[in-house]
Amino acid sequence: GESGDLAGTRVVVTAGGTREPIDPVRFLGNRSTGMQGYAVAEEARDRGAEVVLVAANVILPDPEGVSVVHVETTAQLAEAVDEHRLAADVIVMSAAVADFRPASVGDHKTKKTSDGVVAPIQLVVNPDILAGLVERRAPHQTIVGFAAETGDADGDVLFHGRAKARRKKADLLVLNEVGHDLGFGAPTNAVTILTADGEALGSAEGSKREVAAAVLDQVVAVRGAAGTS
Ligand code: C5P
Repeated sequence: GESGDLAGTRVVVTAGGTREPIDPVRFLGNRSTGMQGYAVAEEARDRGAEVVLVAANVILPDPEGVSVVHVETTAQLAEAVDEHRLAADVIVMSAAVADFRPASVGDHKTKKTSDGVVAPIQLVVNPDILAGLVERRAPHQTIVGFAAETGDADGDVLFHGRAKARRKKADLLVLNEVGHDLGFGAPTNAVTILTADGEALGSAEGSKREVAAAVLDQVVAVRGAAGTS
């Protein structure tokens, strides 16, 4: 696009949830539908950005005017992000990336045994793609992470989110409260947008498109403040 506050900006968005194969027919996965990431991609496109959308197991139609790369596993998502990361001005990691994967993938469908005993699935930790992006971040880049948190005995959602923001060191962390009618699979979302210091820049609640607009407003603001836009 020629006009809009993201004109000339190259944006990479990841959406959906990665799946890790157990055997040829089974996988470990999560409930992410990709709706929030797709809304970010469409909002960025409409503001003039050139958008690459890395979609993990999303059944939504490819948005028009966006370059879509479909992936399944975390390794494939990491490879797609790596391929596009150097050219990107803004990277939004909204995908739910599997934290673990099976240590080995069976060549054949795992069979039931007559004695009912099954071997446990050994898991290994996946690389943190967001951490890798932050580590190798170019000066012109704005990197945005997402975090889905629930409150617990140790603290509320904001407490956990602020701690994660400081740990992850992304320029912005979009804190998502999961549960009730919010988050995965729901049409609406409620988020608080945090800086790398854990400071709350603002909150947004509404359709995923409205939340996407609020996130990109903050992206534009931090890029303007850093003199990088
Ligand atoms: O630590 P947590 O999984 O809550 O962090 C969420 C953020 O980190 C999201 O932006 C997600 O896309 C990213 N992530 C990642 N690689 C992983 C796990 C999460 O990039 N292996």
